[in-house]
Amino acid sequence: MISCPTIRKDVIRRHYDVSTLLYRLLWGPHIHHGYWEGNESPQVAQIQLSERLVEAAGIEAGDKVVDIGCGMGGSSRLLASRYGCDVTGVTLSAFQRRWASMASMRYGLGQQTRFVRADAESIDFPAENFDAVWSIECTEHLFDKPAFVRRAAQWLKPGGAMAICAWLAGPNLDAGQRQQVFDVCEGFFCPSLATSDEYVGWFRDAGLEVEFVADWTKQVDRTWEICRDRVHRFAIHRVAHWVDRGQIIFLDRFQTILDAYRSGAMEYGCFVARKR
Ligand SMILES: C[S@@+](CC[C@H](N)C(=O)[O-])C[C@H]1O[C@@H](n2cnc3c(N)ncnc32)[C@H](O)[C@@H]1O
Repeated sequence: MISCPTIRKDVIRRHYDVSTLLYRLLWGPHIHHGYWEGNESPQVAQIQLSERLVEAAGIEAGDKVVDIGCGMGGSSRLLASRYGCDVTGVTLSAFQRRWASMASMRYGLGQQTRFVRADAESIDFPAENFDAVWSIECTEHLFDKPAFVRRAAQWLKPGGAMAICAWLAGPNLDAGQRQQVFDVCEGFFCPSLATSDEYVGWFRDAGLEVEFVADWTKQVDRTWEICRDRVHRFAIHRVAHWVDRGQIIFLDRFQTILDAYRSGAMEYGCFVARKR
């Protein structure tokens, strides 16, 4: 695990309160990587990533899902509208909670979805309450990842799945690669990035059976070429200047993350672990 001790939770919360609009303009309603099989558009690629996770997790109509780190509610709405799930979205950001709730109402999904502003590291749900704990690109921001996995495992019904996509540190890094991961953590407000093996160990320690582990780096890394080019093309820095300077450090780190993927310093992992 590579850690960045200067990251604070109030700064992560503020980041999503002030930068969600920038993410929306730059990328769309999903704040996560696209998954490419060919020359799909970025919008299609973003949906494809969620679809691949649905397939891997075996999510079924009527499933009760908690979407941890739900952003603008993109996954929650997809799970509700296309897959007939009942979804509770959790986000650290009050701005995102309002956005997600309003968008769900607009699409007629108010009955099937609800959104709460809460810290995933302290929120609690009754035991055996969900068919799936779903989390795309949120666990990077958690300070005690194994503790979260242990608590979230308790929320699962027997047979339920924990389905996680996460930015990872690669294995056996040299000093230069460790610095690359550190720069990504600092730029994207991640207190740490863990390795794939560490996630697998935490699932097992929480009593879950690890069913699916995939390295999707090659399928997703195009995301950052597109984002980097859009930042230049649409002069996003000019828009971003209205925003707190310390909050938009990530706009200058798109090449850093691309380099980290290409050097092997970082990987993109998809995991499904099931409660028996
Ligand atoms: C990269 S965005 C991903 C959003 C969403 N999963 C998606 O794919 O569009 C990270 C999300 O994690 C949330 N987050 C970060 N730390 C959190 C915490 N401690 N508790 C709850 N949500 C958190 C942020 O508010 C944000 O919604």
